[in-house]
Amino acid sequence: MKFLSLPDPFCLICRRGLLSLLALALSLLIIHPAVADTATANPTQLFEIHCAGCHAHGGNIVRRGKTLKLKALQRNQVASVAAIADLITHGKNNMSAFGDRLSADEIQTLAVYVRDQADRNWRSPATDKD
Ligand code: HEC
Repeated sequence: MKFLSLPDPFCLICRRGLLSLLALALSLLIIHPAVADTATANPTQLFEIHCAGCHAHGGNIVRRGKTLKLKALQRNQVASVAAIADLITHGKNNMSAFGDRLSADEIQTLAVYVRDQADRNWRSPATDKD
């Protein structure tokens, strides 16, 4: 009778298998949305993470004349989304290249965001959640 109450070794393996399956399912659940998140990361977040260190509020703490305001972008011939994306990808002088750190999609998103913000003179960041 005593033996019957001992756990069946096969069942132990069964449970292990089930557990690791569960763990796998869980990790997939947790990891998958995270991956999707970075792929569609919102531009405000991307900018905060990668650019705001030097370009907070569309400024430039390294080179004063090279802000992200529309006038500066136009003066420096980087007002088009394509030119901005190119600059982000390859960098320029004291600004490092982001081509190996950001995906083409993220760079495009950021370029559109910068141009968009420039058009609005970098106003209303608080209400601008999307
Ligand atoms: C380490 C500081 C630093 C970071 C981080 C940085 N930049 Fe820059 N950025 C600069 C500097 C310095 C320049 C001026 C380059 C030059 O000499 O033309 C510049 C120039 C620019 C310009 C052109 C501005 C103009 O008026 O000519 C744009 C657009 C730009 N950065 C966008 C970005 C974006 C978007 C990011 C984030 C992906 C970013 N930068 C991250 C330092 C930085």
